Amino acid sequence: MKYNITIIGAGYIGLTTGVCFANAGHKITLVDVDKEKIKMLENGKSPIFEPGLSELLTESFSNLSFTTNYDEGLKNAEIVFIAVTTPSKINGEADLSFVKSASESIGKSMKSDLVIVNRSTAPIGTGKMLEKIIQSKTKYKVSVISCPEFLREGTAIHDFFYPDRIVIGAEKNDTKAVELLEKIYSSTVKNKPEFLVTDIKSAEMIKYASNSFLATQISFINELAILCDKLNVDITNVAKGMKMDSRIGEKAFLNAGLGYGGSCFPKDIKALIALGKKFGKKLQILEKVNKINDSLIDFAFSKIKKLLRKNNLNLSEVKVCFLGLSFKPNTDDTRESQAIKLLEKLCAGGAKNIHIYDPVVVRKNGVENFVITKKLKKHMAKLLFCKTLDEACNKADIIVLATEWEEFKTIDLAAIKKQMKTNLFVDLRNVFSKNHLSESGFDSENIARE
Ligand code: UGA
Repeated sequence: MKYNITIIGAGYIGLTTGVCFANAGHKITLVDVDKEKIKMLENGKSPIFEPGLSELLTESFSNLSFTTNYDEGLKNAEIVFIAVTTPSKINGEADLSFVKSASESIGKSMKSDLVIVNRSTAPIGTGKMLEKIIQSKTKYKVSVISCPEFLREGTAIHDFFYPDRIVIGAEKNDTKAVELLEKIYSSTVKNKPEFLVTDIKSAEMIKYASNSFLATQISFINELAILCDKLNVDITNVAKGMKMDSRIGEKAFLNAGLGYGGSCFPKDIKALIALGKKFGKKLQILEKVNKINDSLIDFAFSKIKKLLRKNNLNLSEVKVCFLGLSFKPNTDDTRESQAIKLLEKLCAGGAKNIHIYDPVVVRKNGVENFVITKKLKKHMAKLLFCKTLDEACNKADIIVLATEWEEFKTIDLAAIKKQMKTNLFVDLRNVFSKNHLSESGFDSENIARE
């Protein structure tokens, strides 16, 4: 059975969700207030870099339509998904203004009873609030369901079609709405995921809890890595041994490095901490999780300075080859990227000559698509954005690897070394073992990897 689905918000989640549903044969209308984005999509172009998305967009184009107009967007809707952004406010709380205004517009434009699925990550109680907002603008019946998304950037299409689980939060009497959503997903995904049906608030909390727990694993391993670094213990062996415990699991987030970034973990942790504060509960672990992640920038900076000092070099005199800008590989997203934060620190800390290369953020999209942070703006004269890795490494004194792109994992280290002036390498994602770097002629630092 195929459905007419309207998705509000053509951002990262809305667009991926829409294109994947369209690929499975559903008729999708994507509504977004951003005219430029809609124009690009109408021309068959994806506004974001996500592996496989452009191809899938082309393949599924006949099942997709795009509009900035809610009346138009909701005309044939059998079900509506809300997938608009919930950014952080200054106090850490989630900013709900976009979900609220989307809900008002849905209420004003809907022409029949509707099931509204909220996929935007939003604090506990938001589902109920949205239902009230929509219901206040319409005479038709509204059923709001929470269906949190668990897609990872870089592997979002795979994650969409092969979900571990689908969480559906609904009111007890909304069984029809739940059945509809289950039918849509069952006729779309390619595996047989478990459906977990809960009340709306539990579903909302599952999303925050999952992201916070994953981030906690990362800060745990990074804090341990700093100790292992002092003890000459290889943290990759430690993580491997831990993952062999089925209670921890092979997919645990235990890769030590420069820490987490992106549009989800930092924002969601702040929002949960803010929610805790509002209800008189200090979330002490999560406060530390974010602090440890922030501290990794200083730790990485000290590693760079240590290696330079050992070789009688000064940061202000050397040419730095800086590899990676995105918050993780396989995405052009630089939001809350630890790589960018380290770049800011290097500039503020005296570096004067940094040649940067990222396989997607710079070369394919051009510099203009990379949001230069306020802190970096002051230092633009010190930065050179290169089109190739060779260009960035040429005559460099030190390589700083900040994002573990596949292209970096497969570099010919000996050939790169030959192009450099000095042989220093700081591997902040533990891509290479120290032995391997040393065999290729490098003097190196990494995060507790032998
Ligand atoms: C994360 C969650 O994994 C998704 O389930 C969720 O849907 C999404 O947030 C969201 O809320 O929308 P994402 O931020 O795309 O997905 O990327 P992850 O693969 O989770 O990585 C997050 C950060 O953690 C990256 O900066 C990555 O480099 C870092 N990381 C990850 C580590 O430092 N170590 C690890 O072992 C794993």
